[in-house]
Amino acid sequence: MVLGAAQVGAWERDGFLVVEDLVEQSACAELMNRAMTIVRESDLEGASVFSTHQQTRTSDEYFLSSGGAIRCFFEEEASDESGTIGRDEELAINKIGHALHDLDPVFDRFSRTPVLAGIAADLGLVRPLLLQSMYIFKQPRIGGEVSCHQDATFLHTEPEGVVGFWFALEDATVANGCLWVEAGGHRGPLRRRFERAGPTDADGTRFVELDRCPLPAPGDSDRLRPLETPAGTLVLLHGLLPHWSGANRSDRSRHAYSVHVIDGRAHYPATNWMQRPPGLPLRGF
Ligand code: FE2
Repeated sequence: MVLGAAQVGAWERDGFLVVEDLVEQSACAELMNRAMTIVRESDLEGASVFSTHQQTRTSDEYFLSSGGAIRCFFEEEASDESGTIGRDEELAINKIGHALHDLDPVFDRFSRTPVLAGIAADLGLVRPLLLQSMYIFKQPRIGGEVSCHQDATFLHTEPEGVVGFWFALEDATVANGCLWVEAGGHRGPLRRRFERAGPTDADGTRFVELDRCPLPAPGDSDRLRPLETPAGTLVLLHGLLPHWSGANRSDRSRHAYSVHVIDGRAHYPATNWMQRPPGLPLRGF
């Protein structure tokens, strides 16, 4: 076991767990350098804007086929109305997704360690599969809010069982847009599911409403608690846990990396937006 009994108990009670000092600072720096190299070497022509508010913008082919690729997505506030990126491109990227952990050797190494495999086992993942990865920049001043959501909305298994492994690569604070979580909120229902509307990318996506019980409002400090986490911290997130992160209006970036893991014993429906090409099967740790 990597986690102690008290940590597993806290995970079950709260639906999240903060593990400080899990990753060496040198490993955080290596991942950040690698992400910057990927952005510099990417062909950003045709990259799309990532927004959790505007469904249409995330329904395009570039997004829907990114489950088997390494693709950059721009910040909403980085472009003007004509879609022109008005900033240095390296400072305009919102995130890179969604198969970094399988297609890039540096991300592969970071994502697959005996310690992480042990933590997955401690959380009850019997046949863990690394489903998707995201490098999140949360850029100074324009880093966008991520609206309150449950990860199972976007990564759905039967039974539900996705677990988020979220790594702070830099210090995350309220000022630069840290995570906020609803402790114990994972015992509530799944509110909605984001689905493919048909079998091809051209069919687009839709939200299917499942339960009207409202999620906490962004910044609701009665229900949501901020997780200020130093660089090197791992935050584990239950797939049903409501969480949110605010915009970054500070002058400090808040880089993070996340991997979502499912249990290979569960069914992964073809209605999930994220599908992998046949030549790239999911792998464990
Ligand atoms: Fe999330």
